[in-house]
Amino acid sequence: MATLGLESTIQDPAVLARAVKHLAQARVVLPTFSELAQPSAISPAVHQALSGVDPDGRSPLNLFRVHWYNDGRGGIASEPAYLRLPPELTGVQAPILVALGRTFPMIHAHKVLAAYGCLVPRIVTGQFDPTNHRAVWPSTGNYCRGGIAISRILGCRGVAVLPEGMSRERFDWLDRWVESADDIVRTPGSESNVKEIYDCCAELDRQAENIIFNQFCEYGNYLIHWRCTGPALGQVFEHERGKQPDLQLAAYVSATGSGGTLAAGDYLKDTYGAAIAAAEALECPTLLANGYGEHNIQGIGDKHVPLIHNVMNTDFVVALSDRVSDGLGVLFNHPAGHAYLRERHGFSPELLAGLPALGLSSLANIAVAIKLARYLNLGPDQAVITVATDSAAMYASERERTLTERFGDNFDQLHAAEVFGEHLRGLSTDNLQQLRHSDRNRVFNLGYYTWVEQQGVDLEAFEARRSQAFWHQLRPLVDAWDGLIREFNAKTGVRPSDAT
Ligand SMILES: Cc1ncc(COP(=O)(O)O)c(C=O)c1O
Repeated sequence: MATLGLESTIQDPAVLARAVKHLAQARVVLPTFSELAQPSAISPAVHQALSGVDPDGRSPLNLFRVHWYNDGRGGIASEPAYLRLPPELTGVQAPILVALGRTFPMIHAHKVLAAYGCLVPRIVTGQFDPTNHRAVWPSTGNYCRGGIAISRILGCRGVAVLPEGMSRERFDWLDRWVESADDIVRTPGSESNVKEIYDCCAELDRQAENIIFNQFCEYGNYLIHWRCTGPALGQVFEHERGKQPDLQLAAYVSATGSGGTLAAGDYLKDTYGAAIAAAEALECPTLLANGYGEHNIQGIGDKHVPLIHNVMNTDFVVALSDRVSDGLGVLFNHPAGHAYLRERHGFSPELLAGLPALGLSSLANIAVAIKLARYLNLGPDQAVITVATDSAAMYASERERTLTERFGDNFDQLHAAEVFGEHLRGLSTDNLQQLRHSDRNRVFNLGYYTWVEQQGVDLEAFEARRSQAFWHQLRPLVDAWDGLIREFNAKTGVRPSDAT
């Protein structure tokens, strides 16, 4: 593997010059990582130009909406949209805070941020030529949608590589966005068949015009979440602490696919002392038990340890059955589920209106947050924070399947009570491991087989990641890239008012 996205200087001036010319013609201004971390710092000229732009359209200006602070009406909010789940719902005293990825533009999931974080360093260092290269986005669905959205905005060719068994909604979206039907490559299997995706990418990599943006080993993915998602979640916590001054941030939970979102934990641990919990599917317990298998928590659990997962800074691994996320998906979106939650438990219309913001992995995150809060016996002043990567809108077809196969197409309030009892109140502390040094080494070592043996990563580069110094030394790359982004924008000369 030639590169892991770690360059901070210009690699090929000729490629860079072509990219400048191309993006000038496409009227693109590239936001810096700092602007996406703190959108209030984006220039008033951009905000003004954005006011008439559809957040789901193909305008280059929508790059300036690839952040956590969209208010759902096209403007900027003072903190990310989030839910605070009350003890009456979760059964634990600790407040559970869930930041909502559906506010991201174009794909309604935060993975468009990861796609930008992988692509833009390659553009501004002269490693991606939008006039000639094709951006290949291997993923289980949301990252490749983000990659396609950004490729289209930049006027370059993008290819989505994803397993054929992913949700229908992902393919429907891709059909609307790709330039040609050939730009969707279906690999065998479903959620945890990432090896098959790699094999397909190895094939595609043989053609010089294909540049593979492998989110599992691209450090831009780690860094953009460390720089943007970490502080955004910090802002959610600060907002709650403003109302409850004794509140502490006890833990951060993230179900891991590429491990990118987990990087926010490195920020939250440094800033608030939060413990970091990696969640995965019990049906594919790779981190917990070196296990494998099929599951339906789409977007996570890929039968390997991503290269960009800072394993030695992870405090817990928790495995959760997809039976829980599938069941809660129905409870939180079905009229009988809402009737039960309202009539039996008296939950407010506001809370019920927020529940469809939670996709399958979001429900897994919440269930794991509950298990962790129970295990740590957290009180009302100890919050657990997590993310809802995408919303229930991506899984209508999956809910139909669950309704048929599990509830005989007859989901009623009795079923709702069973789901509530089994998958919320009944959540126990099983399948949870608090990692000791030796446990972290066990998980870390498992990554050797994917990265060194199969993917050809240099042993030294693999081993360096065992030390926290390695991860700290990555951080200055963000400022270096931001400097190159500013220089790039100065060269294109595009003004925000041109970039509609
Ligand atoms: C729905 C969903 N949840 C969770 C994840 C995992 O996020 P990450 O890849 O940052 O670990 C993904 C990744 O694609 C996803 O699509």
